[in-house]
Amino acid sequence: MQPKPSDALVFFGATGDLAYKKIFPALQAMIKKGLIDVPVIGMGRAGWNLEQFKARARDSLVQHGGGVDEGVFAKLCQRLSYIDGDYRELKTFGPLKEALGQANSPLHYLAIPPSMFGPVVKNLAQAQCTENGRVVVEKPFGRDLASAQELNATLHVSFPEDRIYRIDHYLGKESVLNLLFFRFANAFLEPVWNRNYIHSVQITMAEKFGVEGRGKFYEEVGAVRDVVQNHLLEVVSYLAMEPPGSGSPDGIRDEKVKVLRAIRPLDNQDLVRGQYKGYRKEAGVDRNSKVETFAALRLYIDSWRWGGVPIFIRAGKCLPFNGTEVLVEFHRPPQRKLGDFDLFHSRNYIRFRLSPTIETALGARTKAPGQVMIGEDVELMVNRETGADIDPYERLLTNAMRGESSLFARQDAVEAAWRIVDPILHSPTSIYEYAPNTWGPEADRIVSPEGGWRDPRTNEG
Ligand code: BG6
Repeated sequence: MQPKPSDALVFFGATGDLAYKKIFPALQAMIKKGLIDVPVIGMGRAGWNLEQFKARARDSLVQHGGGVDEGVFAKLCQRLSYIDGDYRELKTFGPLKEALGQANSPLHYLAIPPSMFGPVVKNLAQAQCTENGRVVVEKPFGRDLASAQELNATLHVSFPEDRIYRIDHYLGKESVLNLLFFRFANAFLEPVWNRNYIHSVQITMAEKFGVEGRGKFYEEVGAVRDVVQNHLLEVVSYLAMEPPGSGSPDGIRDEKVKVLRAIRPLDNQDLVRGQYKGYRKEAGVDRNSKVETFAALRLYIDSWRWGGVPIFIRAGKCLPFNGTEVLVEFHRPPQRKLGDFDLFHSRNYIRFRLSPTIETALGARTKAPGQVMIGEDVELMVNRETGADIDPYERLLTNAMRGESSLFARQDAVEAAWRIVDPILHSPTSIYEYAPNTWGPEADRIVSPEGGWRDPRTNEG
């Protein structure tokens, strides 16, 4: 049976940063494409009125939505209402019930700190706003396994699991969906997609910038909680999962959780943590902070397909490059020579650039033109796109409104991902300082000496 679409959108934290940077731009795009035509109710605590709220929406579109489309903005304003009040007080929710009117299956988007989830879902239930409703929550889903379980229990008081939508925006990225698609749409891949042919996997998520005014938030998380536990483990599970078969609506999520459960919990030896020079001077950051802005780590999946294949991950701020890339490297061919000639130096690979461009490429080796038999490395570009025409938030919000849950993180997967990183979070290793614009400290210790990390700038088009 097709799920019933939500008949109203309520977003908490409507005066906050996420609404400003992501939600208003997504709403403009959705209205423009005719994807949403329901009341939109902003809930905030800024003491604003509706006019101030509309001004904020306009400003958001100027700054982050590619400009204001006046016709679309007028339609947004017709649907928009704003309710101001303390989320901990039931009296804030009476006006919400009233604003919902005939709508009886709203989508509640909690763009607020997790500490406020409890009071909000409790009051939503008491005000009878949850019965057929859905709830959307943002990462981070907890700060370790125990707190994630607590958070899930809080949400489950008012919403069953199938009406909870946990947003990890990586799952809404065109490039990440391409990775999933490419794996299962190409028959040539399956015979070699295993430990017999694959030597290792490297994932680099590099950002040139620092914490950009988010020092206070970052102090609570660090790189492992901010991007490894969620975004990058999601990528690993798409790369490593078994084919989900057809016909099962939750098949992809079922297979992903099996991968996460098969990943060995991390040991301190599998991790290097770094902090960029100058981080401790950022606003909101402790002068003696030991929070990592860079992490390099090595994972193993204990499964028949992947046993013994190392997966190297590095992620950090203030690195020399902006972009995320996955490199799947194959074993070298077994024969080194063809007669007198050397055949190879490098490994074949498949490369997925996830951002800022979207690329899929195969690395191969051919004979360099000329008299002598010398090889050269070439890349066969499968596709290269400069960007996606759909923002992850637009895609995910549309899916949540329709009740399509496959691109959202399920509780069992969130908990399985925390189980992997929990040991390193609870006994943190030393932290090494690195100069901005360098590739992080000591990270070479994590990859095998042979080859080392590949610089994602190598094949810049
Ligand atoms: C967010 C993190 O989830 O993802 C940020 O909190 C990070 O620290 C961002 O910069 C990266 O997302 P994207 O889409 O720019 O790769």
